[in-house]
Amino acid sequence: MAKQISPKVSWVGKVDWELTTFHGDELSTQHGSSYNSYLVRDQKTALIDTVWLPYDREFVARLKQEIDLNKIDYIVMNHNEIDHSGALMELMREIPNTPIYCTKKGEEILRGHYHQDWNFVNVKTGDTLSLGETTLTFVEMTMLHWPDSMLTYFDGDGGIVFSNDAFGQHFASESLYNDAVEQEILIYEAKKYYANILNMYSPLVQKKVQQILAMNLPMKLICPSHGIIWKENPQQIIDLYLKWADAYQEDQITIVYDTMWQSTRKMAEAIAQGIYEVSPQTTVKICNITHDDKNDVLTEIFQSKAVLVGSPTINYGFSFAIAGLLEMMKGLKLKKKKAGAFGSFGWSGEAVKLINEHLTEAGLELVNEGINKKWVPDQTMLDDCVAYGREFAKAL
Ligand code: FEO
Repeated sequence: MAKQISPKVSWVGKVDWELTTFHGDELSTQHGSSYNSYLVRDQKTALIDTVWLPYDREFVARLKQEIDLNKIDYIVMNHNEIDHSGALMELMREIPNTPIYCTKKGEEILRGHYHQDWNFVNVKTGDTLSLGETTLTFVEMTMLHWPDSMLTYFDGDGGIVFSNDAFGQHFASESLYNDAVEQEILIYEAKKYYANILNMYSPLVQKKVQQILAMNLPMKLICPSHGIIWKENPQQIIDLYLKWADAYQEDQITIVYDTMWQSTRKMAEAIAQGIYEVSPQTTVKICNITHDDKNDVLTEIFQSKAVLVGSPTINYGFSFAIAGLLEMMKGLKLKKKKAGAFGSFGWSGEAVKLINEHLTEAGLELVNEGINKKWVPDQTMLDDCVAYGREFAKAL
């Protein structure tokens, strides 16, 4: 069902309560998501973005209930990943000549995905599209988070920003607006989304957000392509993005480990005890990477000032789950974070050294060379781990 969000704009997207993973299995989505599409009606009508492929027919059928498709004058594609462009084939079968406004890269991506010679109109930052009394203005958001990404600003109804993925969250809600949902979960989902999808582009986020703020545009609503619409104090998500993009950290240390026979787990807990003894005010989180959600673990790391990674040595290396974590950490391009490694071993003991190498490659600053214990740690070895935790906390 379409929902009117302002006098000239209706939401015509799809709320996906069932979604549990996104980008294949790369990103967990414990609170579902939505694919937001918007219809902007003045003397001319523009449709902004569509929805994910599995919902293409449902989307077009519901759109027909809202408007005669032939009355859609323009389609604006802010970003052409399949979660937003997936319904285009179904829609374009009905209105094949409708112009599609997108960036040059957007056209390349749409051609690469759908292999159609649609009526593309390339736009760049500052280009406008008149809808009659009101105007859409396009702002390229290159690499936030794809090369084609852009934002569309609508100057009617007090100013509406259609930001696509930026400012989004994977969060299903029937009520659409930020003031009608549980705040703690909403902000966590926005943070998790930023940490896992946008953090690597933080320098660009800072630059682009400053550029948009310098335009001094009224913003009554910020309408991303996933999750809720920022209606109550929309500035809050801009402020959060500026904070998150600036090497964000809280007074938190995250300890992530994998374990085979509990030795590495015992070491993790002893290290946590040592940190607590020196710095009781610091939030210490212990995560088992094979049991905990990897994207939640990455969000914990994102908001930490330091991270300790532990693994038993297996097959002269570290565990596959720690390997995945280290690869994902590298992709996040974390800034100004300290790190350490720990592990248990039976005979060769390479894990700690190898984890150190990967942490360094991921751009984290090693506090020391780490701690490695043979076989099952006894109380003396655990005392060493407590002492290690104390020294680690003191060195931050
Ligand atoms: Fe929501 Fe980058 O697609």
